Amino acid sequence: MGNNILKGKKGIIFGALDNSSIAWKTAERVYDEGGKFILTNAPVSIRMGSINDLAKKTNSEVIPADASNLEDLENLINATTNKFGGKLDFVLHSIGMSVNVRKGKHYTDLNYEWLKKGWDVSAVSFHKLMQSLFKLDAMNQWGSIVALTYIAAQRTFPNYNDMADNKAYLESIARSFGYFFGKEKNVRVNTISQSPTLTTAGKGVKGLDDFIKYADLTSPLGNATAEDCADLTVSLFSDYTKRVTLQNIFNDGGFSSVGVSQEIIDKLNSK
Ligand SMILES: NC(=O)c1ccc[n+]([C@@H]2O[C@H](COP(=O)([O-])OP(=O)(O)OC[C@H]3O[C@@H](n4cnc5c(N)ncnc54)[C@H](O)[C@@H]3O)[C@@H](O)[C@H]2O)c1
Repeated sequence: MGNNILKGKKGIIFGALDNSSIAWKTAERVYDEGGKFILTNAPVSIRMGSINDLAKKTNSEVIPADASNLEDLENLINATTNKFGGKLDFVLHSIGMSVNVRKGKHYTDLNYEWLKKGWDVSAVSFHKLMQSLFKLDAMNQWGSIVALTYIAAQRTFPNYNDMADNKAYLESIARSFGYFFGKEKNVRVNTISQSPTLTTAGKGVKGLDDFIKYADLTSPLGNATAEDCADLTVSLFSDYTKRVTLQNIFNDGGFSSVGVSQEIIDKLNSK
């Protein structure tokens, strides 16, 4: 049960593929808190996934958009502001895809056409989205924009491949665009760096199960779940975080600040 902290707020949620998606859990929480939104995803993901079930559950509409296509983004934003009869208060970018990861290409042997595609979808799409919102003047004052990222942007994780570089780029876009969005429109822009989570995108990363176990044993609070991520996003969409901006917020049970935990040392000693 929510507390209506998003009552009267309207937005767009990108990236709900199926009920394991972080965006799916976020849409449910935003709905519980009284927020209204349009759900969107790439047309192929809409066909393959189950976003229409989520739409029914949250009383929302689905508008397809390839997040790397400017025309799709513009249509989506215009359709959303028309539907709600006004500007937006929140936008979630929960999108990631690497062709090199998908096709098992090693980081030392990348295909650069695939790299460009993954970079465009996973990172540049965030710039395209914000530029479209900015030019169309589609965000309300004190609105909030959030994108999801992973700590491989700052630390090396051998199997995260070119997604690590995409996330570093995404986080930089959040700060760079967030500056202008803050100065000119009083809009917040933040990224959430989430614990490894069992989702369709997550499962694409080789050895995810071990990533998850290692992170869980390292983090004093244990891994953050997709539901925890949804709660944090709700708080970033709410009026309780009005001056939090240009931040990369670690939602990871403390993982990012730990060198090694006693649990990991004990595991090594037990062998
Ligand atoms: N799962 C994890 O371990 C983890 C950890 C940290 C951050 N993240 C990030 O969380 C976000 C959501 O991923 P998830 O784990 O919920 O997986 P997911 O597979 O459920 O979501 C990824 C989404 O990206 C969408 N997408 C791909 N190409 C697109 C395009 N061209 N246009 C629009 N949408 C497109 C997919 O359709 C899908 O809905 C991603 O940014 C991911 O990198 C995930």
